[in-house]
Amino acid sequence: MQLTPLPQFQGSGLDLDAEIARLKKERNAVLLAHYYQDSEIQDMADFIGDSLQLAQAAKKSDADVILFAGVHFMAEVAKIVNPSRTVLVPDMKAGCSLADGCPAPQVRAWKARYERPFLISYINCSAEVKAESDLICTSSNAEKMVMSVPSDRTLLFAPDKNLGRYLIKKTGRSMELWPGSCIVHETFSLKRVVELKRKHPDAKVVAHPECEEPVLDESDFIGSTAALLNFVQRDDAQTYIVATESGIIHQMKKACPDKTFIAGPPESESCSCNECPFMRLNTPEKIYLALRDLTPELTMDEELRQRASLPIERMLELSQKP
Ligand code: 13P
Ligand code: SF4
Repeated sequence: MQLTPLPQFQGSGLDLDAEIARLKKERNAVLLAHYYQDSEIQDMADFIGDSLQLAQAAKKSDADVILFAGVHFMAEVAKIVNPSRTVLVPDMKAGCSLADGCPAPQVRAWKARYERPFLISYINCSAEVKAESDLICTSSNAEKMVMSVPSDRTLLFAPDKNLGRYLIKKTGRSMELWPGSCIVHETFSLKRVVELKRKHPDAKVVAHPECEEPVLDESDFIGSTAALLNFVQRDDAQTYIVATESGIIHQMKKACPDKTFIAGPPESESCSCNECPFMRLNTPEKIYLALRDLTPELTMDEELRQRASLPIERMLELSQKP
């Protein structure tokens, strides 16, 4: 994606890369970036990862400032696990369709309908929903989290119904699903994936579990962004059709320069729907301004933070167990 410079930077002659590096040092700041960031931002980050790796990196960071190039719920997680740091977000409007479609009051009402409910929430949800949850999971540890729940509890899973459905299939555990989905992953079209497979018969399809079931059924490998990146490095195919946000392809190409990566096709050829509109709100200009002005800062009510931290810490602890 071609980034449009902010008006105040057009023709300013400012070397943004150098300025960001200088400010990072001056502020004792660390720049954490998700794989779905624009490649320019990935290249200037101190750490790139999937949601779990980023939560772990935020927790162990001893920087004074954590600048989070991702989306709002990820920055919230950084604040929850490392509250004494200043957490900055380049753009406060960087939300997530999964988090936005799952308000805490409705989740509370949903839970109240079941006996002995156990709510596992995908990390893509607000701090308020995390505070209502018994356990958090990410796409890289979700199976393990589901299997850790005692079988006498009624399992509720929010907010991604596609990941939930996939987990039911993988674990054999029945779960009540919240009807949410990711606006990016639901645009991957089965018809067009099949067309691409026909055109590239040796290509393997790798997909994120947020994709809809028919696309997952056509996939050779399903996993979190980090797991997909890992897979293409150890697998022996030459060509991959990548059914997740296209930002990950930057790291895939870096890791495997001799392989070919085809961005998974959305239904309409004319849209860039395989780019998350929230993730892509972040720009180097906004990163520079956040470091320069130490704003926008993510703050959180301490009581909420403590309640939300319980299921996250439980997840982080369980993730470390073999
Ligand atoms: P992971 O980082 O766990 O792969 O999740 C992808 C995603 O959609 C983040 O919003
Ligand atoms: Fe949310 Fe989907 Fe964007 Fe991830 S890709 S942040 S799930 S809208």
